[in-house]
Amino acid sequence: MTVTSSRRSLLLLAGVAAAATAARPAFAAAATSAFQHGVASGDPLPGGILLWTRVTPTPESAPASGAGPVVTVDWQIAADASFATIVRSGVVATGPDRDHTVKVDVTGLTPATTYWYRFGLAGAWSPTGRTMTAPAADAAITRLRAGVVSCANWEGGYFAAYRHLAERGDLNLVVHLGDYVYEYASGEFTAGGTVVRKAQPANETIALADYRTRHAQYKTDPDLQALHASVPWVITWDDHEIANDAWSGGAENHDPATEGSYAARVAASRQAYAEWMPVRLAEDGHIYRRLRYGNLFELSMLDLRTYRSEQASGAEVDDPDRTITGAAQMSWLMDGLTNSTATWKIVGNPVMISRLDVGALPAWLLGPLGKLIGVPENGLVLNGDQWDGYNADREKLVDTLRAHATKDVVFITGDIHTSWANELTTKDTGTANPAAAEFVVPSLTSDNVNDFLGTSPGGPLSLLAATLIRATNPHVKWVETDGHGYGVLDITSSRCRMDWYHLADRTSKTSSVTWVQGYSVGRGSSKIRRESAPTA
Ligand SMILES: [Fe+2]
Repeated sequence: MTVTSSRRSLLLLAGVAAAATAARPAFAAAATSAFQHGVASGDPLPGGILLWTRVTPTPESAPASGAGPVVTVDWQIAADASFATIVRSGVVATGPDRDHTVKVDVTGLTPATTYWYRFGLAGAWSPTGRTMTAPAADAAITRLRAGVVSCANWEGGYFAAYRHLAERGDLNLVVHLGDYVYEYASGEFTAGGTVVRKAQPANETIALADYRTRHAQYKTDPDLQALHASVPWVITWDDHEIANDAWSGGAENHDPATEGSYAARVAASRQAYAEWMPVRLAEDGHIYRRLRYGNLFELSMLDLRTYRSEQASGAEVDDPDRTITGAAQMSWLMDGLTNSTATWKIVGNPVMISRLDVGALPAWLLGPLGKLIGVPENGLVLNGDQWDGYNADREKLVDTLRAHATKDVVFITGDIHTSWANELTTKDTGTANPAAAEFVVPSLTSDNVNDFLGTSPGGPLSLLAATLIRATNPHVKWVETDGHGYGVLDITSSRCRMDWYHLADRTSKTSSVTWVQGYSVGRGSSKIRRESAPTA
């Protein structure tokens, strides 16, 4: 099925913008000069929402400049698109110390309600954003739909996938599983060798100014702005928000000899992230957190980079002293899943938790696959950067779910740029009684198997790759190695399903998108089933 623009939702957004401009004659028509990076909302609570923007009050206040005045920004949140009924408003100061970003954690709102918001500076309003609060914790909710995305490489293409999600008009949320930005220097990570559009700064991001500049460039993308302005996001980070294959003490793409202290780099990347992302971080900076949508589901967003042991291979992956989550996050996760009163326990999981046995794959495939999933070129048969490299943590988590008879756990996953529908099995579960379902969404634009191979999407080598992966991994029910795009998670009281949509051409701003597959899991079962048509 080819999905075209939803005219209805476009008209709605156009009407919102027109009405918002007309409603406040005291302010000039929306000027974009002070608001070049869009507006965003995130982390919905039953009575609250986080709002974000960035202002450019003077020409010298460019991102990462460290220059420009401290200014006072107005904010409003209203019950209607014309701002006739403003339910909360205020002012907030920002300046060069926080790169002129603005974050407002609005409280006192009504659960399960759509709101419109905007920011004002020096007589001009920002574009209007639309957002929704979460339902009350005990509310009986029967359905929710979320866009699910990861891995948006600027130089790999355009963010048409974000535009298609924005145009749907039926989403309550967007869940981003990491690699929102990439750290590479221009030319280091491209679209199969082609730079579709040049990254800023041109160098690899290492210092605070580099990360601020990269984040700012992403926020100029019109499709990214459209999706942020249309629906609240719930976001976690993966490695590329700092550097490739990050772990608690370093990263594959960090060389202390030439790039300085890793701790200083982490601090710089985290400061820019906190400034530029619509995410509610804990006071100590930690990002793992849980959001609830009535009785329908809880969403546990994980951080699999900050606390993890260094990647390893061979027998070390079974070492119980090594961890991917850290002890505190693992306790929080196990407690949250086993004690949840929500029907569905969704885990926002940056890297794949299902096993991937690649011992039977031939060398021609191991090369490109290894680049994606971290298999060393010497042919070791596992991916040390995913949960496969931290087997003790995976077994502890699965065994805990089994001991508590915890059902209806679904992992939604990014990172490996390809599309998968898996059943989570371990040596204890066997293949007959999986502990959970796992749905893996592809990259927005980042290279995948055929891009590395230099072959056409869906070609014979890709089809053979998928066939071989499935032959050696019976818990993998579907894998597609070439498509770029996104997933749509649709949750009802009786089942949870993912639909995958792939772009015709990631290098085209105007690419169409096509439904390629759907899988669902019914309540009380962790066996997944194939769907024959998109969700209505
Ligand atoms: Fe990625």
